Amino acid sequence: MDKELMKKVAGQEAVKYIEDGMTVGLGTGSTVKYLLDALGKRVAKEGLRIIGVPTSNRSAKRARDLGIDVKSIDDVDHIDLTIDGADQIDENFQGIKGGGVAHLREKIVAINSKKNIWVVDETKMAKNLGSFPLPLEVTPYGSTHLFKRLDKMGYHPQFRKNAKGGHVLTHADNYIIDLKMHYIEHPHELEQILNNLTGIVEHGLFLDMVNMVIVGDENGSKTYHAR
Ligand code: 5RP
Repeated sequence: MDKELMKKVAGQEAVKYIEDGMTVGLGTGSTVKYLLDALGKRVAKEGLRIIGVPTSNRSAKRARDLGIDVKSIDDVDHIDLTIDGADQIDENFQGIKGGGVAHLREKIVAINSKKNIWVVDETKMAKNLGSFPLPLEVTPYGSTHLFKRLDKMGYHPQFRKNAKGGHVLTHADNYIIDLKMHYIEHPHELEQILNNLTGIVEHGLFLDMVNMVIVGDENGSKTYHAR
């Protein structure tokens, strides 16, 4: 089964958890795209009344184009459910996000949601985190010094660059540094270290955050209850 189909299956399964009247956090990425397509169809066919809270300009535009009402997180008083993608999920349902440069907004929306669901294709599931580089959103100011510090700490940092060789910029015009660590033995310890480094606006470790993971595979989809 091809990867696109596995993403589609996961996105389409997740839309079943959205109920009339909900305020729904809308994640970012190619798997969430399928969720948005399926949600747009439900809105059109069933007259589902939901408010979407997008985590990126891309998701906001797509949702609007599909007829889904969207509001900024600061214009809603709660979020019932957020559905998002992930870059890697370990066997304890800890995750890495930020491959699509949106992890700051994604984390803000996730921590303000009553429930979080991740939708992924089966290639994202791993025993341990780390083979996917861990994204950090960092302030441009002082970033070369932060980079050197991360390098000395043995975290194998790399600035994320665009095709023209410039820095990839986040929604807040910050830079991304990816940590090519290959293996993260103790995610909670690393989280504490990164939380304490000045200049990191937010890192892509999403720990103890997801309630349900929907994995698209060659047989359809599997749903895991994480916590
Ligand atoms: C964006 C993210 C995405 O959720 C993550 O990159 C997964 O994207 P995709 O579904 O395209 O693989 O964290 O910052």
